[in-house]
Amino acid sequence: MKTAIHGKNIVLGVCGGIAAYKSVELLRLLKKQEANVRVIMTQNAREFVGPMTFEALSGLPVCSDIFERGADASIRHIEWAEEADAVVIAPATANIIGKFANGIADDALSTFMLAVTSRQILCPSMNANMYLSNAVQRNLEILRSDGYFIVEPGSGDLACGTTGPGRLPEPEEIADRILYSFTKKDMNGKKILVTAGPTREHSDPVRFISNPSSGKMGYAIAKAAEHRGGEVILVTGPTNLAPPSHITVVSVKSAKEMAQAVFDNMENSHIVIKTAAVADYRPKEMADQKVKKGTDDEKVLHLEKNQDILKELGRRKQDQILVGFAAETEKLEKHAGKKLAEKNLDIIAGNLVSRPDSGFGTDTNQVTLFYRNGTKEALPVMEKDAVAHILLDRVAGLKS
Ligand code: PMT
Repeated sequence: MKTAIHGKNIVLGVCGGIAAYKSVELLRLLKKQEANVRVIMTQNAREFVGPMTFEALSGLPVCSDIFERGADASIRHIEWAEEADAVVIAPATANIIGKFANGIADDALSTFMLAVTSRQILCPSMNANMYLSNAVQRNLEILRSDGYFIVEPGSGDLACGTTGPGRLPEPEEIADRILYSFTKKDMNGKKILVTAGPTREHSDPVRFISNPSSGKMGYAIAKAAEHRGGEVILVTGPTNLAPPSHITVVSVKSAKEMAQAVFDNMENSHIVIKTAAVADYRPKEMADQKVKKGTDDEKVLHLEKNQDILKELGRRKQDQILVGFAAETEKLEKHAGKKLAEKNLDIIAGNLVSRPDSGFGTDTNQVTLFYRNGTKEALPVMEKDAVAHILLDRVAGLKS
């Protein structure tokens, strides 16, 4: 999928820290999204990772000396600075943070940085006491007010033996923040409630009724909404996906729990997007202990109806934008249209879940959007991340 960093020129600055190895993976993730990445290393960084690794992955020579000889080496830092759409410093040591904050230009990276006019993303990583020191905190404050985007370090046991803040976030998290910095912020100030995943309706502690929802579609919507500046609450059934960062995640199991979490948060939300595959029925009785096999060849499980959460949202709706999904195996337009009307929705995203490239568990989806005014829009098969952004484009186009 083409993300917001596709084709962008990104300069990756690597400093001398034990976390420098993570920059290799970061470079790989950026290249995967087809960004053009150039690497500048400090001399100390070369003690931790060889420039050959970065050159092989970026396909471009690494710069670490402003005085090196070569075709255009002497002006390289100015040229790269002018062409850059973003500069990412990962890991950023206390030393380089001090240089950037005070305008010191005594090596390739710090000299280059003074010429940069594009967005600057800094990922500090160091010993916890160093990170918390007055000098580093003061310098970071200066850089924040200079417009630097600081990716806060993680906390925990650090390689140096200390415990506390200072750990370089995982490359996926840094790549996510880079994407965030490139995404338009048309959802600023909006509170967005998203549901995702399946529900589980237990008949005893080890058995339940559920469905194959992986949560991918709902998580993609939640992440896209956060990238666009929204304040996102994700109510999720059980999935194997990592909880997305910068999003409030409420984990639930059953439809009853999902209903409660959704109703608790509905009134404060401007936009509600219900992607979750909620079980329509639950076992009428829930045994306290595991039910034994017994001698019967057949067994009957009595079910009772779960509340239709979305229908109730539609009933309570005031000025929120309400979006549903319809998972169908046939007659998409007829069934989705009925749900749109019955549940008082603004948009319903219908997907034929019988297609191999669509619906449950897949990375792609083929969705048709049905609008309240009777119009529809069939989207081609695309990555769920791309579907999420188009859906949010359409939501942003509606008046709330
Ligand atoms: O999670 P993935 O693996 O990525 O798969 C994505 C998906 C197939 C689950 C998703 O694209 C999708 O179609 N989600 C809706 C699934 C569903 O429950 O569809 P439905 O047609 O049964 O329900 C219609 C709408 O009513 C849905 O928005 C649903 O959240 C809501 N509903 C349904 C029943 C119920 N008791 N309460 C509800 O709120």
